[in-house]
Amino acid sequence: MPAAAERGLTWPLDMAAGSDGAAMDTILKLENISKSFPGVKALQGIHLDIARGEIHALLGENGAGKSMLMKILCGIYQPDEGTITIEGEPRHFANYHDAVAAGVGIVFQEFSLIPYLNAVENIFLGREMKNGLGLLERGKMRRAAAEIFARLGVSIDVSVPIRELSVAQQQFVEIGKALSLEARILILDDRPRRSRPPKPSTCLRSCAT
Ligand SMILES: Nc1ncnc2c1ncn2[C@@H]1O[C@H](COP(=O)(O)OP(=O)(O)OP(=O)(O)O)[C@@H](O)[C@H]1O
Ligand SMILES: [Mg+2]
Repeated sequence: MPAAAERGLTWPLDMAAGSDGAAMDTILKLENISKSFPGVKALQGIHLDIARGEIHALLGENGAGKSMLMKILCGIYQPDEGTITIEGEPRHFANYHDAVAAGVGIVFQEFSLIPYLNAVENIFLGREMKNGLGLLERGKMRRAAAEIFARLGVSIDVSVPIRELSVAQQQFVEIGKALSLEARILILDDRPRRSRPPKPSTCLRSCAT
């Protein structure tokens, strides 16, 4: 990989073509994505094809541009060049909410949870379920969260503030939050090494289905 300011991701990442060259059901296509900041070429000419149901790992050294590519995919940054196509439709994400509406969910490298709220409150923060009178439907939200955690195969105590959960459990709350947005493309940004949860394979198995 190139060094210093030019060490950003540059290689084509064409990973959805089957080994036999068969056409696949592409859910996400990134073409020629580039992004620079003053003195830093974070991304250059990135191509990435992802087929429905596939799980991909994006590998690269620190500062290679992995998080930047994912932040572009979920509307936090806009690319200088290139196109994002989801299920055959070109997309321009002005912000994170545009990406969520298009079915992209992200679990950030840095946690975005509120420590003193419980798992259910965190998952539905800002989009709480309410009845016709505007009252919170706590039972409905708890059941929806329980269904998501059952799907992920994890046991989470929803009665305690999430600061009392382990880092691994908090990560699952983040994943649950992304899934509750009905994400069709789920991005898991890497955790810092010191707080990496012990069994990422568990959630990858669940999220692939
Ligand atoms: N807001 C920003 N302004 C300027 N440069 C930035 C900004 N965000 C990221 N960069 C630079 O873009 C490059 C890619 O950073 P990025 O965070 O995507 O790397 P990464 O591959 O996710 O690294 P890590 O493995 O450490 O998480 C780095 O050189 C970084 O310093
Ligand atoms: Mg990163």
